[in-house]
Amino acid sequence: MNEILDAILSSDSTPADFAAIKLPESYRAVTLHKDEEQMFAGLASRDKDPRKSLHLDEVPLPELGPGEALVAVMASSVNYNTVWSSIFEPVSTFGFLERYGRLSPLTKRHDLPYHILGSDLAGVVLRTGAGVNAWKPGDEVVAHCLSVELESPDGHNDTMMDPEQRIWGFETNFGGLAEIALVKTNQLLPKPKHLTWEEAASPGLVNSTAYRQLVSQNGAGMKQGDNVLIWGASGGLGSYATQYALAGGATPICVVSSESKAEICRAMGAEAIIDRSAEGFKFWKDEHTQDPREWKRLGSKIREFTGGEDVDIVFEHPGRETFGASVYVTRKGGTIVTCASTSGYMHQYDNRYLWMSLKRIVGSHFANYREAFEANRLVAKGKIHPTLSKVYSLDETGQAALDVHHNKHQGKVGVLCLAPEEGMGVRDHELRAKHLPAINRFRNI
Ligand SMILES: NC(=O)c1ccc[n+]([C@@H]2O[C@H](COP(=O)([O-])OP(=O)(O)OC[C@H]3O[C@@H](n4cnc5c(N)ncnc54)[C@H](OP(=O)(O)O)[C@@H]3O)[C@@H](O)[C@H]2O)c1
Repeated sequence: MNEILDAILSSDSTPADFAAIKLPESYRAVTLHKDEEQMFAGLASRDKDPRKSLHLDEVPLPELGPGEALVAVMASSVNYNTVWSSIFEPVSTFGFLERYGRLSPLTKRHDLPYHILGSDLAGVVLRTGAGVNAWKPGDEVVAHCLSVELESPDGHNDTMMDPEQRIWGFETNFGGLAEIALVKTNQLLPKPKHLTWEEAASPGLVNSTAYRQLVSQNGAGMKQGDNVLIWGASGGLGSYATQYALAGGATPICVVSSESKAEICRAMGAEAIIDRSAEGFKFWKDEHTQDPREWKRLGSKIREFTGGEDVDIVFEHPGRETFGASVYVTRKGGTIVTCASTSGYMHQYDNRYLWMSLKRIVGSHFANYREAFEANRLVAKGKIHPTLSKVYSLDETGQAALDVHHNKHQGKVGVLCLAPEEGMGVRDHELRAKHLPAINRFRNI
């Protein structure tokens, strides 16, 4: 591993140098253990502690297949899917690996008694498999997390429609929370040159998801002047949705749950901010009954910011707790675009407000390669910025996941893998200097 790190840290390593490095037989990785699937049985979600289920293990290097790359991972990040995996909710991810393993002898490699998690990485290509021409050893990359087989016609207009579509490091093995990761090379994107390893590793999953959900025609197709209600506007997804709304000439109405989160939204340039805790919004009277008066109160609050207008788009992901309110406050003809159900997936809303006002509910999930490329391109140009707030070491990943599980974090939480310290990997210092305050926005609060 030292040889790999030396080559990455040296400024004059060539592709041939990287290709000549003898790869180690094993490496360190953050894993779940299949024989611990039931360890949290009977506990409330909040009490399921990722520090107990996530392990740092020495694992064997997987065999490299056609169209794949082994990447030395300098940094990765925690996504909410790391939390779902680590608490075995809503299902254990080992079921995904078993199903994937039944597809072919090559995918059988993924069906192991341990699951290496992680759906983001920034690092350096070490080896490429047969049939790979676009990437070579030594390339500095980030990886998006869409894994597809594309053997069916269904995925050829939009790769998210592939019947064998999976999220790498969640529904597949050999993820990014490790010193080495295995990816398909059609997951690779150039690393933004003005960012450190940990900054470059943090936008990937949430940035691409927010891009498709809000900007792409496959999602809400946001346009200039739209009012966009963004739940969790300082969180992983929301911190990118807020930037896209502002950069695209729309008006974000940011919902957060504390003053420090409100402050971050203001720092991004948002003016309309609703602190759901301070305002005491409670959309459910009890477990079974919603409170439409609270929907109306939210609608009135939004109109105070918009001069009486309702929202064109709701950027939804909390799910059950907020969905009734989201459908209510959307303007006639507007769009509720949803990619998740953090608070529960059995949604309830008053359908009269949907059909009578010709609203649309659009489902959105991650992003295709092109959308992930566009989202990464905007980061590389300094138009969208990482929202990294805190960085942990690989052996502290359990704590990092607990922070996200308990909503104690801001923006994104990073993890150093091979990078010995923060702040390394910047190649374009001029572009960085231009955007430094924006890059550090989430660090300073
Ligand atoms: N389908 C996909 O491709 C995809 C991609 C990425 C993420 N996701 C999912 O999307 C969800 C959010 O991911 P994330 O990375 O943005 O997580 P995150 O960093 O935890 O941010 C979510 C934010 O939502 C807000 N929130 C949480 N519970 C809420 C509730 N009951 N009511 C209102 N607001 C609530 C919180 O903000 P405040 O407390 O400040 O309001 C929180 O910061 C997760 O379930 C994740 O698995 C799906």
